[in-house]
This record gives sequence, structure tokens and C-alpha cells, in this order.
Amino acid sequence: MSTTSPAHTADLVVFGGTGDLSMRKLLPALYHSDRDGRLSPETRVIAMSRGGLTDADFRGKVDAEVRDQVPIDDPATWQRFLGRLHHVSVDVGGADKSGWGALSRLLAGHEQRDRVFYLASPPRTFGPFCRELEEAGLVTPRSRVVLEKPLGHDLPSAQRINDEVGAIFDERQIFRIDHYLGKETVQNLLVLRFANAFLEPIWNSLWIDHVQITAAETVGTPGRRGYYDHAGALRDMVQNHLLQLLTLTAMEPPARNDREAIRDEKVKVLQALRPITGTEVDRFTVRGQYTEAGGMPGYLDEPASTPPTEASRRVETFTAIRAEIKNWRWAGVPFYLRTGKRMPYRRSEIVVQFKDVPHSIFPGGTPNRLVLRLQPEEGIELHIMAKEPGAGEVTLKPVPMSLSFGKTFTARVPEAYERLLTDVLAGNPTLFMRRDEVEAAWRWIDPILSAWESSGDLPEPYPAGTTGPAGAHELLGRSGREWHEEDV
Ligand code: BG6
Repeated sequence: MSTTSPAHTADLVVFGGTGDLSMRKLLPALYHSDRDGRLSPETRVIAMSRGGLTDADFRGKVDAEVRDQVPIDDPATWQRFLGRLHHVSVDVGGADKSGWGALSRLLAGHEQRDRVFYLASPPRTFGPFCRELEEAGLVTPRSRVVLEKPLGHDLPSAQRINDEVGAIFDERQIFRIDHYLGKETVQNLLVLRFANAFLEPIWNSLWIDHVQITAAETVGTPGRRGYYDHAGALRDMVQNHLLQLLTLTAMEPPARNDREAIRDEKVKVLQALRPITGTEVDRFTVRGQYTEAGGMPGYLDEPASTPPTEASRRVETFTAIRAEIKNWRWAGVPFYLRTGKRMPYRRSEIVVQFKDVPHSIFPGGTPNRLVLRLQPEEGIELHIMAKEPGAGEVTLKPVPMSLSFGKTFTARVPEAYERLLTDVLAGNPTLFMRRDEVEAAWRWIDPILSAWESSGDLPEPYPAGTTGPAGAHELLGRSGREWHEEDV
């Protein structure tokens, strides 16, 4: 698990520092850290972009665009935060190297500080950025580099990025972000499993029927076609976020709460995933694409700067997969993964469905279910059978025993990026993906991608605002199971 100890003084250099991610996630998260006293007084944030902005321009931009996203209870704190911000213009891969000179001057004399280079830019820039950074002599032993997703589009491209970045930075200096790992419930999953005795004896195929991991979104992909046509739900959500949730649900108890012990166990789960190859994709995977419905446009009609192409017609905005983990604990327990855009609700959750009682003496019971909700309202629910009050016949009813983090703890639940940035600044990589994890995930994803490509089939259409194509329901229905759709 991560630490929240105060970070050392750092120079945090954000490449892509004026982009969407920076404005919507990183800067608000940094402001919260500052407000809560988790940034040392001298820590600076240096945005790099091609924008040609001065420090004053950048501070003005942040004042205009970020101020409304965060609570400003004390204007002096906001001014202090703005005072930490700097901007350096750089043209990575271009002939003009003056930006590196400007960055060197800003960093000079501060070699003892932690240096964090956060690459919030397209992955093709990762290698060139690291090379130019090194040529400018800016990589110190106290440097770290943070890589945003997507880390490649298949195994070879991920390996290339890892090689390029690995040529400049040691693995221990590389922090690969998966923002799902910063979500509070995800960390609570480890505490629930490994700080409570009652679950471990039943956390296996003897007691668990199956697991469902869902990340459903109501949003579509307006303005994102350029990226999404070549990503799709499998690369965008499953390769990283959903597989990370699967590893934390299925991993063996680590011997220690430390960075390598936890990641060692996670990677073993990925390596134990049964490959889905060739025509097996028809049985174990489902692809869908949303179509126009309920006043919402279909994927092909979303606003975009270019018209749809063949790639747009082929890309999946929904996928469901039946995964299997070939090890002693999980043999025979399906892990159903599901994610989609334009679904009727926004919800990310892990549902652990227990088996039925071996012999029931009451009519009408349903098996227990543990729901770990990541969003919208983070919490844990254990659905147990109870007797409905009343005289006469015993009538059973499933009732949830709920823990809502928002209601139980008064402390503000931090955004995922806030937790992750705190850990980067503290040098704690536990909640970041190691090279072997990323590559093991691609090793499982690649055969599915190539089987989809060679099948020539198009994704099944599903109307926007619904729970995905019919195939997704058949995937579970074939074995008499159904998706957890409570409160819909
Ligand atoms: C990102 C994906 O990684 O995660 C987006 O690229 C997706 O397509 C987003 O919308 C979902 O994140 P969250 O935290 O809103 O579930």
C-alpha cells in the first residue's frame, strides 16, 4: 500500500502540462495536496508545452481554468499554489533546442531535489522526451519519470516504449500510471482481504461461484475518434484498469506490504490467465458498438474532426470477456469483465458472487454477494439473507450490509490522481505498474485483438443508453448466470 508521508521538496516537470489531463486532473490534485499541507514549501510545478507561454501566462490560464474546479477557502493558499507554477516551451523532436536550455537554467542548483518528469503526452513522445532530457544533462540519480497510458497498442509497441524509457531510467525510477489503482476502494480491497481474517478461508473456488468486474460509463466518445478508433474498449479499459482490478481481487496474500511483494503477486495472476485464442473469441468475448438512441448519437455520428472510416466501423465501444485464472485457488471460477461507453449508468464495481448454501432449509434464498463499488459512491456491500419481519411463514430477503466510505469517514475521499501524485512525490511505486505487469497484460490481450481482426466480424450494435449487446447477456446466460444490475 502507499504512504502518505509528506513528500520531499521536488521539481515536478509536466510534459503536456497545459493539456486536458493536466488542467482537469493533475493541477486540481496538486492544489488539494498543497491545501492539505502535503507539498513542501519549495516544491515547484513546471509545465512544458509547445505553447510559448510565460510563467505569468500559464498562471493566468490555471487561474481561469482550474480555479472553479477546486474549493478555494483561502485566497492566500490559491496564490501560494499559483506561485509554484512555471512554464517552459519545448519542441520535442524539433530542431530548436532552446527549451531544454531554459529548463536547465530553471533546474540548475537544485540537483539535490527530487526531480519528477511526468509525461502526460502521447506515448510516441516518451522515448524522444527521455533522450532529449538526458542529452540536456537533466537526469539526476534522484529523478523519476511518470508514464501516462496508453503504454503502447500491443506487446511489441509496449516493449519498445519500455526499452526507450528504460535506456535512460532504471526500472525503479519509472512510474507507470493506472489511475484506477489510486481509487480509494481499490486500496480498500487489499485492506479488506489482508487485514480481516474472515474472508481468506472462503476466497477461493470452493466458496466463490464467479466474479464480475464492470466499468460502465454513460459518456460516449465525442471529439475522441482520432484516439478511440485505434484503441477501443479492450485497449482503453481492459488491458489496464480492469485487469488491474482482476489482479488485486485474485492475487495471493503478499508476504509484506511492500512495492515488490505486492507487484510480484499481481504479475503471477496475469501470467496465470488462460489465453483466449483463435475461434475461442466467439465463445469467451463479446464486442459491441453503440448506435443512435434516446436522442444520443451513435459512435459513427459522434462529433469528430474527421469522418468515420473503416476503423471506426470496426472498433468496439463495449466489450465483455469471460476470463479464467489457471491456478489452484481459482480453477473453474469465471472472472467476467465488462466495460462500455453510453451505458445507462456510470458504475465501476467488483462483484464477488458466492455459491449457494449446500442444503437449503428455507425456500427462496439467494446466494451471498460481495460488492466493492469504486464509483459513483465508493463503498462495500455484503448481501446476506435475512428473515423478513413478521409472524407466520419464514420469508427470506437479501439485504445489504453496507459500508459507505463517504458516510463512515468524515475525511474527504481524495481523487485517484491526488493519491498517485502523492506517492510519486514520496517515491513509492506500489500503486504503479511494473514493466513485467504491463507486458503480461498485453500478452493476454494481443491474441484476442488479432483473433478479432482476423474474424472480420463487426461489433454487435447496441442502442446508446442500454447495457450492451445481447451477446453480453448470453455470455453469462449460457451458464445460468446474469450480470449484477441492481438499482438500474
Ligand atoms: C480512461 C479512459 O483511462 O479512463 C477513458 O481512457 C475512460 O476512456 C476513463 O473514460 C474512465 O475513468 P473513470 O475514472 O472515470 O472511471
